[in-house]
Amino acid sequence: MNLKGQHILSAKQFDKELLLEIFQQAKKFEENGGDGCLKGKIMATLFCEPSTRTRFSFETAMLRLGGDVVSNFDMMNNSSFTKRETLFDTGKVVSQMVDVIVMRHPVPVALHELAKGSEVPVINAGNGPQDHPTQAMLDAYTIWKEFGKLDGLTVGVIGDLKYSRVLHSQVMALKNFGVKFVLVSPKELQLPVDLKERIDFVESENLSEVISEMDVISVNRIQEERFASKEEAEKFRGKFVVNNQILARAKEKAIVLCPLPRVEELPTEIDGDGRIRFFTQVKNGVFVRMALLKMVLG
Ligand code: NCD
Repeated sequence: MNLKGQHILSAKQFDKELLLEIFQQAKKFEENGGDGCLKGKIMATLFCEPSTRTRFSFETAMLRLGGDVVSNFDMMNNSSFTKRETLFDTGKVVSQMVDVIVMRHPVPVALHELAKGSEVPVINAGNGPQDHPTQAMLDAYTIWKEFGKLDGLTVGVIGDLKYSRVLHSQVMALKNFGVKFVLVSPKELQLPVDLKERIDFVESENLSEVISEMDVISVNRIQEERFASKEEAEKFRGKFVVNNQILARAKEKAIVLCPLPRVEELPTEIDGDGRIRFFTQVKNGVFVRMALLKMVLG
């Protein structure tokens, strides 16, 4: 798949061939470092929601390839959005100056509005509860490196499956490899039906019963900022905790993934367990984003 000049808005755009191409390129960067291929190119990061990893990861990736970065991490309060400039016009304007735009926004359609105006590729760094495609790419890369394949694995997807954009993108990316999913969530926070329709899955509310089936244990926190109120989110906090007691029942060769931040669902008591990979994921994210930027910018 030729990504040159393409917007990357959703993990639904990915196919197996594209993901394998990204993995191979990311591995080359991991082994040999950046190659200066984006010298003279500029990336703008437009963030309208908090971020620690994703923005630093994109920016580090760009810098490691010899490119430059202009950044606004408080677009909501500190840009012409405060003067009612439209997303379309913002996309149009920023794209007159830079070669690629990376955007995070709490409202899913905002990204699409901005992309319509933009004359350069726009990459989704998280659009509300909908999609976080590059996180899914780095999750898939982490699994691929670990197992040497993705086909035929059983992936447990645990937590807030209703609002987690990471888990939505993750299932869309991994379904390209014939993965079987074990979905573990409270009834009220199940995976949206339109995603369920596309995957091979079983559902459970009993983590300790199904943990032993999983090759990959993929966990995300309750996305409390998406709930109507804090009290509403509170009901689900700490429902599914992957602690030492649970991990004692998991496969010896399983791996534990989390996009981070982690809160009570991944207590620090498991940090000595050889199966956790959440900090490795952060490192892998830079190589994957380097690969993606190279492909998008040609
Ligand atoms: C996630 C996000 O922002 O969706 N974080 C990330 O990008 N690594 C996950 C989360 O906030 O729970």
